Amino acid sequence: MAKEVKNVEYGLEKIFEGAQDFLPLLGTDYVEFYVGNAKQAAHFYKTAFGFQSYAYKGLETGCKEYASYVLSQDKIRLVLTTPLDSKSPINEHLAKHGDGVKVIALWVEDATKSFDETVKRGAKPFMKPTVEKDEHGEVIRSGIYTYGETVHIFVERKNYKGIFLPGYSAWKSDYNPTSVGLKFIDHMVGNVGWGEMNQWVKWYEDVMGFVNFLSFDDKQITTEYSALMSKVMSNGNGRIKFPINEPAIGKKKSQIEEYIDFYEGPGCQHIAVATDDIIKTVKELRARGVEFLSPPPHAYYEDIPKRLGKHMDMMKEDMNVIESLAIMVDADEEGYLLQIFTKPVEDRPTLFFEIIQRMGAKGFGAGNFKALFESIEREQEKRGTL
Ligand code: FE2
Repeated sequence: MAKEVKNVEYGLEKIFEGAQDFLPLLGTDYVEFYVGNAKQAAHFYKTAFGFQSYAYKGLETGCKEYASYVLSQDKIRLVLTTPLDSKSPINEHLAKHGDGVKVIALWVEDATKSFDETVKRGAKPFMKPTVEKDEHGEVIRSGIYTYGETVHIFVERKNYKGIFLPGYSAWKSDYNPTSVGLKFIDHMVGNVGWGEMNQWVKWYEDVMGFVNFLSFDDKQITTEYSALMSKVMSNGNGRIKFPINEPAIGKKKSQIEEYIDFYEGPGCQHIAVATDDIIKTVKELRARGVEFLSPPPHAYYEDIPKRLGKHMDMMKEDMNVIESLAIMVDADEEGYLLQIFTKPVEDRPTLFFEIIQRMGAKGFGAGNFKALFESIEREQEKRGTL
């Protein structure tokens, strides 16, 4: 596993030994979902999750094939896209997978070089480098396939001054619910099939120059009933983190297998978004109707001091409030973190969100996995998919 070069705030400098330099990534540019009804989905993400109207492309801007709504909250940009007729290839994606993440777009200095270098290393091309222009300048985008039908688009926007991308107009709305305090994407997790995790770990190493900096085996991620394995991939500067999960054998069906069955293939399982005040954010999300997984038992909260150890003194949050909101707490060597998971945001039990506040910890809440998965299993039981 990769060693961290030095303990620094994640910046542009390389912090992981062994990461390759051929694909410098500046950050996540946007995440695009293919959805059945982008207009209604946009309303949901504004109302429930506190996203703001940002940009729009559709019939009114001269695009006859699809409508795309861009929503923003601090550094996060979501794009919700719906086809406007039956001929669009987006329909096949929707029919097969339901609503879900199609594009994880990465902000780069040079989209042509990003495409050439990754394709040379074995990536399957999705979109050749393409220049898009309008009166605000130009953007170059290119894209490659990752797991399943999910793609990475490389976005080079240094010569662009417009709102989002050429072809989009600013989206002004009279309906503007306030932000819930979501700041940026902390990590995005991919679910892949039986025995495929190491193949995708190698793909991120070879094709993208990423390193594997944390691993969890099925002994660590197991409950009485189900298990999974996970390896966390990061780019060199630590800004982009993609854990990859695969199902493992247990007495009953793994949640990863349930996802793969309903998504009909590998795909993005969850998007973790960071906040710097999880109590405020979760109170707000609950008030707006966002559904979270059922709370861990009281005994889980009684064990927190043990789990936090030396970091317990640092913890400022009121334990009763944490428990009343069903927020989970974990720690690693460097600090602690607070996290909570929503139920899936579609009818198919596929994509969900994680809200995370890091107080120094760089892990992913391994100490919470058991409680989390028991909670997911209670939902699987109700769905008849355990
Ligand atoms: Fe996560």
